[in-house]
Parts: sequence; C-alpha cells; structure tokens
Amino acid sequence: MSVLELSGVDKSFRGLRALSDVDMAVSEGEIVGVIGPNGAGKTTLFNVICGALKPDAGSVRFAGEDVTGHKPEKIARSGMVRTFQLMRPFATMSVAENVSLAAQHHTRGAERLRGHAVEIVERVGLREWAYRPATELPTAGLKRLELARALAARPRVLLLDEVLAGLLPAEREPVLDLLAELREQDGTTLVFIEHIMAAVMRLSDRVLVLDQGAVLATGTPDEVTADPRVIEAYLGEEPTTHADA
Ligand SMILES: Nc1ncnc2c1ncn2[C@@H]1O[C@H](COP(=O)(O)OP(=O)(O)O)[C@@H](O)[C@H]1O
Ligand SMILES: [Mg+2]
Repeated sequence: MSVLELSGVDKSFRGLRALSDVDMAVSEGEIVGVIGPNGAGKTTLFNVICGALKPDAGSVRFAGEDVTGHKPEKIARSGMVRTFQLMRPFATMSVAENVSLAAQHHTRGAERLRGHAVEIVERVGLREWAYRPATELPTAGLKRLELARALAARPRVLLLDEVLAGLLPAEREPVLDLLAELREQDGTTLVFIEHIMAAVMRLSDRVLVLDQGAVLATGTPDEVTADPRVIEAYLGEEPTTHADA
C-alpha cells in the first residue's frame, strides 16, 4: 500500500498551470527523487502535499486518509513533514532551541524535550553549534538545522526541497549518508527534490520527472536518465548546472 498517493492533482496560478493532472504513489520506506527544470512545479507539488496550497482538483492521501486541503500543521503533526528551500531560523534562539521548538508537539516535559533536541542536533552534525545563535550558522549549518527541525517532528514521510543546494561537494556527503540512514534505521519514507544528479542517482529507488507541471516520466534512476524525453526536457540542457548547482 502507498503511504502517500496523489491522484489527478491540478494547481494553477492565475492561468499558469503549475501542476497538471499529477498522479504519484510512494510506498512506505521508499526513497523517491523529484527532478525537473526550474519552474516545473516541484515546490508547488510539495506545497500541495503538505497543505500549504489547496489543489484546484485531485486528491492527496496520506497513510490511507484523504488529507486534501487539510491545514499544514495538521498534516505535519500526523507525520508528513517538509523542509523549506529558504530557511528562516528563529534568530534570537540557539540551534538547540530552534530544534526544541519543532519537537515540542511530540515530546512532553522540558528535560526530555532538551534531551531529544540535543540528540537530533548531534545526529545532523551540529553538536559544536548547539548553544550558539542559529543566525551564526553558515549555509551548510542552516541546511542541517532545517533538516534537524524536520526530524524533530518525527516524520513518517519526509519531503526535502533541495537540501544539498549551496553545499560544497564535501559537505553533501554526510547529509546523503544521514538520509540513507534515516531510511535504514528509522524506516522513514523520503521524497526529495534535487538538482544534483549524482545525489539523485545514488539515493533514489525511483525518480519522478516533472516538466511544465506534468509527470514526464517515472522509473528507476537508470530508466529515467536513459529516457530521451527526459534528456530533452531536462538532462540535455547545460549539464554543468546539474552537476554543481
Ligand atoms: N505562489 C505562487 N504564485 C504564483 N505563481 C507561482 C507561485 N508558486 C509557484 N508559481 C509558479 O508556478 C510555476 C512552478 O513553480 P515551482 O513549483 O516553484 O517550480 P520548481 O520548484 O520546479 O522550480 C512557476 O512558473 C512559478 O513561477
Ligand atoms: Mg523549487
């Protein structure tokens, strides 16, 4: 059974068709990469899944329940959690406090909450930063904090919007290892939007290709990268941007 299932999802912005009849099914424990050119509708897809946007048509089902149009907080609390492309931590708070805030719906008691937050901070490799202001974090650190905040909400399905963007190649490795570990150890289902094809190839069980709001192809990483339509719509253009964006 699919833990996440979209059926016939449409979303337009004043006549611009950002998502067009999108079907998508993700199995529990699966890792699905979402790729496609800029403006293809990838972030809009996440916004619809997580309740930030209501689709004009179609449905989103999570864990067997229709969650179409549910409030983002309600969807997050039920176990479907996303990260944002642009992170805005609470500036006056430390890294650990930022994570605590995201964990408070799930963990009772100040002591346990602190312990849980510190555990997650360590897991994402920010131990040295735990008690420093979040605003002092460099880009790579902010990305890790965003991931930590999502993990604090104990996701069953984790949706990641370009978590590797802006990271140096050496900084990407530990994040990729952590994502693989989340699936192996915690059984977390991952759906991740990513431009860096090496990461998509390495992590994905299956890849969904969006182009102009529609699903252009879906298959294993090898299948989609060999698909002439995918090469034409996405992979063929300026390969360097995908290698190192
Ligand atoms: N809130 C919005 N209002 C108007 N247009 C939007 C909004 N969000 C996205 N769009 C438009 O929808 C299309 C898809 O955007 P987006 O989902 O951000 O693409 P991607 O993440 O694949 O780059 C783009 O043309 C974008 O300009
Ligand atoms: Mg986007």
